[in-house]
Amino acid sequence: MYAKRLDNLPPYLFAQIDAIKAQKRAEGVDLIDLGVGDPDLPTPKHIVDSLCEAARDSSTHHYPDYLGMLDYRKAVAQWYKNRFGVTLDPVKEVLALIGSKEGIAHIPEAFVNPGEYVLASDPGYPVYKTSTLFAEGKCHLMPLLEGNNFLPDYDAIPRDVLKTAKLMFIGYPNNPTGAVAPMKFFDETVEFAKNHNIIVVHDNAYSEISYDGYIAPSFLEASGAMDVGIETHSLSKTYNMTGWRIGMAVGNANLIGAFGRVKTNIDSGAFDAIQRAAITALTGPQDCVAQACAIYQERRDALVAGLQSLGFKVHVPKATFYVWMKVPNAVEFTSKMINEAGIVVTPGTGFGPNGEGYVRFAITRPVARINEAIERMKKLGITGT
Ligand SMILES: Cc1ncc(COP(=O)(O)O)c(C=O)c1O
Repeated sequence: MYAKRLDNLPPYLFAQIDAIKAQKRAEGVDLIDLGVGDPDLPTPKHIVDSLCEAARDSSTHHYPDYLGMLDYRKAVAQWYKNRFGVTLDPVKEVLALIGSKEGIAHIPEAFVNPGEYVLASDPGYPVYKTSTLFAEGKCHLMPLLEGNNFLPDYDAIPRDVLKTAKLMFIGYPNNPTGAVAPMKFFDETVEFAKNHNIIVVHDNAYSEISYDGYIAPSFLEASGAMDVGIETHSLSKTYNMTGWRIGMAVGNANLIGAFGRVKTNIDSGAFDAIQRAAITALTGPQDCVAQACAIYQERRDALVAGLQSLGFKVHVPKATFYVWMKVPNAVEFTSKMINEAGIVVTPGTGFGPNGEGYVRFAITRPVARINEAIERMKKLGITGT
């Protein structure tokens, strides 16, 4: 009954975790959910107000423009200019997405022929791989190793893979490792992409969630990046708008044009009222972003200090809301955490084979709950020693 491609898909990790969470809650367990990366903070009021106003205007009730409202694309271009110093033509180099997941899921349809390779980071956001499989491409996983600061080693990619490699997915600040990339790495990526004729898709969903004064760059700031790639971005994490489903793809005009052709044939765009609220978010006051980062930073510090006090080795992330921690066995540790301590964390293996030996904590719960999680672990003897 099912198409073969469904057999090739790994189970969607977070859907599986949701099922276990539902079961635990039904049993009456007070779960501390540090699993999925969904901000617990509300969308700022001025953005919600803007949506309400736009939704009452019946001119927003019709089919939207396939590629996004021009005013939204202009707001995105202006935001890229202000934030990254990157100049974009709103007509040809900006496309509205129904969340960046939607973009990542559909991009290979535009560029990858059956049997061609897509390079994707491992561990990595699972949709890089599944979108490749939907397009009937082959996925070559690039290990992100601690010894290389969780950056891929392009020299380690086999020659036969490079011959038919068409596209690559990378993303920094990185989910799940919390790693950040220096500009030098983006420069090397441009050179590698040019040498091997590979389209770069840089996923920058977490650029605004950063700490200790770190400011994340855009891949498009690298010299020559506009020749070889596009960047996907999103309002989800920046403005606590995960449920709103609004994002953008920006970059090389030919690539954006081809991707737009795919989207035109699949969806009918994002609700105009949401695009209007997104304009408010991008062009309005930005202090809400700094406030959210200050909250995450306090949580990060509480979690890292707590885990270190239990003897765990933890990377202190400069960005993202993830803490990536070494454990002897990812799945065993995750099961023990949920079954014995009522704490949800994500096994590194859910992000690819090189996630073995790690788990991911999302700091999307208040400090009091994080401290409680540490207390529960301490009581149960879940330690790193
Ligand atoms: C690395 C990364 N990219 C993209 C997304 C998709 O975000 P959205 O579709 O909400 O824009 C996520 C969501 O968790 C993510 O972690």
